[in-house]
Amino acid sequence: MAKWQLEPPEDDGLVKSKAKLHSEKKHYYLRRYIDAFTTAMKGKWQSICYIDLFAGAGIVEYADKTLTWGSPLIAAQSPVAFDQLIFCEAKKSLHDALFKRTQQLGLGDRAITLKGDANEVCHEVVRKIPNRSLSFAFLDPLGLHLNYETISTLSQAKCDLLVFFPDRVDLLRNWKLNYWENENSNPDLVFGPGADWRHILSVEPKIDQIRQLTTLYTSQVAKLGYEHSRSVRIVGTNGPLYQLIFFSKHEMGKKIWRGISEKGADGQHTFDFG
Ligand SMILES: C[S@@+](CC[C@H](N)C(=O)[O-])C[C@H]1O[C@@H](n2cnc3c(N)ncnc32)[C@H](O)[C@@H]1O
Repeated sequence: MAKWQLEPPEDDGLVKSKAKLHSEKKHYYLRRYIDAFTTAMKGKWQSICYIDLFAGAGIVEYADKTLTWGSPLIAAQSPVAFDQLIFCEAKKSLHDALFKRTQQLGLGDRAITLKGDANEVCHEVVRKIPNRSLSFAFLDPLGLHLNYETISTLSQAKCDLLVFFPDRVDLLRNWKLNYWENENSNPDLVFGPGADWRHILSVEPKIDQIRQLTTLYTSQVAKLGYEHSRSVRIVGTNGPLYQLIFFSKHEMGKKIWRGISEKGADGQHTFDFG
């Protein structure tokens, strides 16, 4: 696999996404997957397409003011190029900055930058995927904001998924106060129809809750024809935060993910719960 060096971005004066340092770990897996996916799939399909529904501004600023590329512009600079990039961002200032950056990088029509709620815009995204494409979608919201219906919409296309699953960082922190009594709460929308996440939250110890919630989620997504592969746990300075879960409908996608995720970034644990 090609060694992919990407120099940090210069400050271009446009709005940036803010993030904590643990985002580096997420980007470590993303870059490795993009590298392996594009290398393996380019030429085998009429086109390869990258989808980023929670895209941010394209440049990320950490608290110490250092800058790094955000996920959409990491994908845009892949040495083996995606034929089409489709981005969505809800926040106008971030969307507009991302759009300008795609222009500055000379991406032209290769990048489509949509503004709006990913859970609504996803229909338009699927319509914009070129015919006979294989797509890879990075689905990286801030919390429980990626609806099951959105995954169902993406599943109409040939599309592998890398999904942010905010078990510790949102679900376990907020269920009592924000979700338990609301029938149409974020976890209800994220887990989808018929998923009884509530009864799992009475299970002890907590580690079993995590395991069962993860299994519930992957079994819901499996109803859409997806199989999951090794999950990566992202840990911050104060402990575990969320998982990245990979889903694909074909063996090749899972094989690529297994290959790149076995080797964790510093201090990362990867485990196979399937
Ligand atoms: C974790 S950040 C994305 C970071 C980006 N993927 C990266 O790695 O550089 C999540 C982004 O999703 C946006 N967002 C939140 N809810 C959204 C929604 N419903 N639809 C689209 N974007 C949303 C936020 O404004 C934020 O920029």
